[in-house]
Amino acid sequence: MAQIIDGKAVSAAVKNEVAEEAARLRDEKGLKVGLAVVIVGNNPASRVYVNNKKKACEAVGFQSFEYALDESTTQEQLLDLVNVLNRDDRVNGILVQLPLPKHIDEKAVINAISPDKDVDAFHPINVGKIMIGEYSFLPCTPAGVMRLIESTGTDITGKQCVVIGRSNIVGKPQAMLLLQKNGTVTICHSKTKNLKEVCLGADILVVAIGRANFVTGDMIKEGAVVIDVGMNRLDNGKLCGDVEFESAEKKASFITPVPGGVGPMTIAMLMKNTLTAAKQQAGIE
Ligand code: GUN
Repeated sequence: MAQIIDGKAVSAAVKNEVAEEAARLRDEKGLKVGLAVVIVGNNPASRVYVNNKKKACEAVGFQSFEYALDESTTQEQLLDLVNVLNRDDRVNGILVQLPLPKHIDEKAVINAISPDKDVDAFHPINVGKIMIGEYSFLPCTPAGVMRLIESTGTDITGKQCVVIGRSNIVGKPQAMLLLQKNGTVTICHSKTKNLKEVCLGADILVVAIGRANFVTGDMIKEGAVVIDVGMNRLDNGKLCGDVEFESAEKKASFITPVPGGVGPMTIAMLMKNTLTAAKQQAGIE
């Protein structure tokens, strides 16, 4: 039976580290850390995420600046705001909550954020830096997954790592981070043949495909570390991951629950990136 990885506990530890360093920077250097969060429209899930990000800022002692814009905001207005925030010295990090309304080009908005303030690490410059291993910011969810794997004491070197999902936000950067830790990495997706066989070879399995209960226990190698990035709402209102927990926990050595696994890590890593941004902008390493 698997040990459950407690994402809330690991994320609390990360937030504590960030809060301590933020307090030290404030006391010793007079530096205040600030994050701007922009939300456009009324997507209820986005509203919850943005509220959680604001709460996390308070908890670690950052200033947060919220910009809640109407659904009808034009792309030009949003780009104008991003440009103002790029120049605002109180703002160390800028996060534009996705998805944006359909009439706004997400790529144009991401590209407009100054790479130095891009705490999501979505800007092509930051994506490219991750490819060559010379990054300042890691994308929050994959970075959180790495921290969870680390918390199990698993050495990634030489392990067969399988990532299911190839999104720009999770799957692709996740594969790069596992590769940098010397994993042997396979990326699977909806067109992969023999998915079950590939998964059965995984010592470390990261699932980010966005389909409820997609990975079942019979696809998991005995003793594997299983990280479930999925967050799906079932018809009965219950949240569930991309991994069928009951069958998977019988095979895995470690497994993340949903909720309470990867979810809390994403915000903790966002706080860490915002602190890194503030230090870099102040010329502190
Ligand atoms: N929407 C869902 N996840 C994220 C995220 O990590 N960052 C942003 N900006 N939007 C999101």
